[in-house]
Amino acid sequence: MNEKTRGTFRNNIGFVLAAAGSAIGLGNLWRFPYFAAKDGGGVFLLVYLLLTVTFGFALMLTEIAIGRKTQTTPLQAYGKLHRKFRFLGVIATAVPVIIFPYYCVIGGWVTKYGFTYLTGGSSEIYGTGAPAFFKGFLSDSVSPILWFFVFMVITGAVVLLGVEKGIEKASKFMLPVLLFLILGIAVYSLTLQHTDPATGETRTALDGLKIYLIPDFSGMTWNKFIGILLDAMGQMFYSLSIAMGIMITYGSYSQKESNLVRSVNQIEFFDTGVALIAGLIIIPTVFAFQGAEGLETAGPGLMFISLPSIFEQMGAAGNIVGALFFLLVLFAALTSSISLMEAVTASFMDSFGLRRSTAVLISFGIATVIGVTVCLGYNAFYADIPLPNGTTGQFLDVLDYLSNNLLLPIVALLTCVLIGWLCKPKVVLDEVKEGMGQKKFGRETMYVIMIRYVAPVFLLLILLQAFNLFWFLG
Ligand code: PHE
Repeated sequence: MNEKTRGTFRNNIGFVLAAAGSAIGLGNLWRFPYFAAKDGGGVFLLVYLLLTVTFGFALMLTEIAIGRKTQTTPLQAYGKLHRKFRFLGVIATAVPVIIFPYYCVIGGWVTKYGFTYLTGGSSEIYGTGAPAFFKGFLSDSVSPILWFFVFMVITGAVVLLGVEKGIEKASKFMLPVLLFLILGIAVYSLTLQHTDPATGETRTALDGLKIYLIPDFSGMTWNKFIGILLDAMGQMFYSLSIAMGIMITYGSYSQKESNLVRSVNQIEFFDTGVALIAGLIIIPTVFAFQGAEGLETAGPGLMFISLPSIFEQMGAAGNIVGALFFLLVLFAALTSSISLMEAVTASFMDSFGLRRSTAVLISFGIATVIGVTVCLGYNAFYADIPLPNGTTGQFLDVLDYLSNNLLLPIVALLTCVLIGWLCKPKVVLDEVKEGMGQKKFGRETMYVIMIRYVAPVFLLLILLQAFNLFWFLG
């Protein structure tokens, strides 16, 4: 893409909504509540918020500034900053190449559930019971592949339309609807209460809210705290879509005169806000219907098993809430997958001079091969594959591990080394200040400390954790 034909967002709102759309996704709606439940609610929230305004702020600002300064996608951008760092562009581009296909597979599951609820077919889920329905769907050799394609074709259509007509327009429509839906469902869910037929005990959502919001430091040890810290950090990365070239790509479409600090604040506000509200919906609801035990055992099945079971118990209202909930998740997942596909597509366009349509087709082709393999990983190719962090998983978990636990911290760490020590933070600071007309911005000193010292140390810790090297934590 040369400078003239390179897409740009029409205005800063478009940029912020598209970037927030990328950030807000399954990570906020499913992963965040799940970690918050696992890590004792309030303490996790506190750590997460602190990390977002310091560490997350620094890294996101860095990426957007790199994109806007170099006016190109990650495959080229790192090499433009430092000749010896061209390889980092390759790794950074590999991350969305890996994540995009499996994100579309999960997007396909969401589409399937959304479609089922919206067309009044919830009895299909309740007929077998939610756990059996989910299992049956996953182990079918055709259905998940079909829904994977449906989801990916919608994503591809938006990306094909380009930055302004596709991504910006779609984000400007989907994000406000998403915010409206999530607020509505949150208000409804906080009014819930449930009487356990077996014990006769009545629990309200508001009791669950206390577990979620009030930090409980009793029984806290250093080991536990470090575990929570690392969970919060990994979650923040994933949730803000950083260290995978996406913010560089979107930054390259943002306008020179926009205020990047303000934009980053807004993106983080939206992203964190939606995560907090998602927790506000899911934790109290699961608590009311399934008690503290339900929260502990829910885990990754939270969205596709626990919630549908609860919708079933709500009767007719449950069908409506289920439909709205999965529509919300679908929009969130779509805006994220659009950003993933755009990062891959635009990198191919910038690096090989391809037309958008050709680049979209290539991205589609690669994702098809990987995505279909991921789908078959639950049936024809089923295997329990051991991972270096001591767990086992299917093909999807292997890709998730490879991208999130391994490549992501490596990209982020090397970005910190590049900006903090080789190019010096001034490169980013100058770019940031260009659109602000100010000599200094708040948190500027903190930015430098973060990027040079604090972030690299934290990132190293995440990497150690990926290899299960915290033997001393037991
Ligand atoms: N940030 C997205 C979320 O919270 C996930 C995502 C990961 C999006 C990678 C794009 C790229 O779900």
